[in-house]
Amino acid sequence: MAEEKGSAVGEVVHEVRSHSSKGAHVASLEKYKKLHEDSVRDPSGYWGRLARRELKWMHDFDKVKIGSLKNGDLAWFVGGKLNVSENCLDRWVEEGRGDDVAIIWEKDEPGQAVKYTYLEVLHKVCQIANVMRKFGVKKGDPVTLYMPMIPEAAFVMLACARIGAPHSVVFAGFSAEALRARVDDVHSKWIFTADEGLRGGRTIPLKKTVDDAISSCDFVNKCFVFKRTGADVSMTEGRDLWMEPELEGQRPYCPPEVMDAEDPLFYLYTSGSTGKPKGLMHSTAGYILYAQTTCKIIFDLRPGDVYACVADVGWITGHSYIVYGPLANGTTTLMFESTPLYPDAGRYWDVVETHSVTQFYTAPTAIRALMRHGPEPTEKYDLSTLRILGTVGEPINPAAWTWYFKHVGKERCAIIDTYWQTETGGIIVTPLPGATPLKPGSATLPFFGIDLEVLDPQSGKVVPFVEGEESSGVLCVKSAWPSMTRTVFNNHERYMNTYLKPYPGYYFTGDGVTRDKDGFFFVTGRVDDVLNVSGHRIGSAEIESALVAHDAVAESACVGFPHEVKGEGIACYVILKLGNEETDDLIKDLRNQIRSVIGPFASPDYIVITPALPKTRSGKLMRRVLRKIIALEADQLGDTSTLADPSVVDSLIEKVATLR
Ligand code: WTA
Repeated sequence: MAEEKGSAVGEVVHEVRSHSSKGAHVASLEKYKKLHEDSVRDPSGYWGRLARRELKWMHDFDKVKIGSLKNGDLAWFVGGKLNVSENCLDRWVEEGRGDDVAIIWEKDEPGQAVKYTYLEVLHKVCQIANVMRKFGVKKGDPVTLYMPMIPEAAFVMLACARIGAPHSVVFAGFSAEALRARVDDVHSKWIFTADEGLRGGRTIPLKKTVDDAISSCDFVNKCFVFKRTGADVSMTEGRDLWMEPELEGQRPYCPPEVMDAEDPLFYLYTSGSTGKPKGLMHSTAGYILYAQTTCKIIFDLRPGDVYACVADVGWITGHSYIVYGPLANGTTTLMFESTPLYPDAGRYWDVVETHSVTQFYTAPTAIRALMRHGPEPTEKYDLSTLRILGTVGEPINPAAWTWYFKHVGKERCAIIDTYWQTETGGIIVTPLPGATPLKPGSATLPFFGIDLEVLDPQSGKVVPFVEGEESSGVLCVKSAWPSMTRTVFNNHERYMNTYLKPYPGYYFTGDGVTRDKDGFFFVTGRVDDVLNVSGHRIGSAEIESALVAHDAVAESACVGFPHEVKGEGIACYVILKLGNEETDDLIKDLRNQIRSVIGPFASPDYIVITPALPKTRSGKLMRRVLRKIIALEADQLGDTSTLADPSVVDSLIEKVATLR
């Protein structure tokens, strides 16, 4: 796969134009170029106009933008007041669209979908908001969600927005310990969960995990519990509360809190290359404007569309493109509780046919998993309503791109490869359907208002674009955009050091990029020690610290390697403490250690027990060497002259050969 990726970069393997988007928001490449040029020349003019046109304000703003990337003190729509839940719900009801479907909930079992209109969602959100107010949740109080993919997850997020309590959604695949760390960091006194989750026919003990997580957090006031499966779960008196009976007594209206444009809308934890996960803060106005605008233009939303993003609300994709983006456009959004393979590999396409889905947004890893089952499942269903097929989370290899294009889109739909990050709040590099020529493996060109620059990683100098020539470097953004994360919870210094100080005056994405001869961007992956496993971001430092917390482990080093379905697999090299021996049980135990400290999705593919790690004479770990060895590319180790003990490499190569 790595070869495939490599060979596509800079080369038009297969160029198509979407034939499916006649009358799209942006009609042609020329129009895109002109609009993009204008938007980056005058970002304040561009975003100011959109903010007034697309959002409902309680009070107009005085200034579009203040501050700078250099100083890390950016603020957008200064002085403006608004409420995000009002922008997502009330305004559509007021326009007489209360009966339009806001959310389609596709349950784990097929054929059991439930629909909620805008009016119904507004009522549910208000009732939840009223329960929160009743128990003392105040504006500014962080609220943690550990929820399955049920509509209540979206309702609670919107209820938090309604009363101005920033939410912190923790993906329900995280372990108790990972959840505890996140509850503790943001010091959230309020938690929402469900009795159990249901996914692919299996139950997930959410309430139990919450109990384990917060047993040591005595600052937690209330744990609000929804019923999903009806399982018998333990409820701690005084702390835990069933939501259903509480909701019955509540009035279906709750006045929206007046929020400042720069008040936090939410925190979302994400992994970095070092240290513990950081709680990225997203603001109210800038975030919702960017989510709304990108969703509308990139997915070419039109009245009557049924838009389906099959991500999880626990990740940024779920925040921006299941909940906030579509609802801020008054669109019908689908929430998918199941997996692409349940009950079989036709599940996605069954959903498309059943609900006449027009936009479908998934991840390359899901496409690769489905490819293994062949194209037959895509042929059994009517996919003719589809117009746009999105992908996100990792670079898409041209083989997966082509499969998606051919078998799902029938060479008729635009494939929209969207590049972005938790930090960016919304999509920043993407084709626009109908306007941008598509190249498999390329996220193509920047969105409006996004001014990209490729920098030389060592010197920090701009690598200029020369037409007809290919160039590479690290991907940076030259000027601020409304939805960029404003800070790391309680750690602004870390924010500066991670994003704004590496290349002063720029936002640093942490990704490497190649720009082809036409100026199209091919994001090649992280240049730091962040792994991307099935589109999930995991810091290698997090896995390493989970391992060294185990009694038998002296030292560990974790690296990624190309994986056919997951994109990247995880390999952990481990040095055992004296007196411990490599046994099957110990390996299993180490794997469980990672599952319990982080979560099952971080479970490693290989654990390589070794007496030593390759280090330089000054003691620096040579990760590059570890990556090459596990990728079976030991013939391309590069310069190893600085290795303190070259024999370590040979024994590792031998060891890995027995495992792979
Ligand atoms: C990677 C997910 C190539 C990238 C929205 C980024 C991608 C990280 C793409 C962010 C894409 C995401 N092409 N790489 N289309 N989309 N990435 O924060 O390495 O979970 O830095 O946000 O995923 O992951 P995150």
